[in-house]
Amino acid sequence: MSMIALGADHGGYELKEAVKKHLDEIGVPYKDFGCFSTESVDYPDMAEPACRAVVAGECDKALLFCGTGVGISIAANKIHGIRACCCSDYFSAKYTRMHNDANALCLGGRVVGAGLAIELVDVFLNTEYEGGRHAKRVAKIAALEEKG
Ligand code: RB5
Repeated sequence: MSMIALGADHGGYELKEAVKKHLDEIGVPYKDFGCFSTESVDYPDMAEPACRAVVAGECDKALLFCGTGVGISIAANKIHGIRACCCSDYFSAKYTRMHNDANALCLGGRVVGAGLAIELVDVFLNTEYEGGRHAKRVAKIAALEEKG
């Protein structure tokens, strides 16, 4: 099983811990880039190392958490090669893998409960990218990145 990068701010810390417990139970290895308490921190500081680990190939995907999931997704999407999806519904978590080849899932600790978060994590980690007609769209995302 490939390595997962974890990152959270204080708003996502508790949900990260709940997801970690789940990953332990199902035997999925992870690297935790913090934070490590509910003390207030800035989500870009955890988004960056977790996403760099993905881009460097040390981790396969990132699971990121903040209060809404939105701030950390915006930060994550600034990292070259990251396609981060903030979502709280099953369909989006599945189809962002199939259609967007998303490599980071962002969840809001103040939005979703642990039960739903675990379902979203499982479908995100277990769904393959479809490629095909989606490949040229994903390539155009990369081209946008190059344009800056
Ligand atoms: C922190 O209070 C909160 O702003 C942060 O966790 C996140 O929700 C930002 O998008």
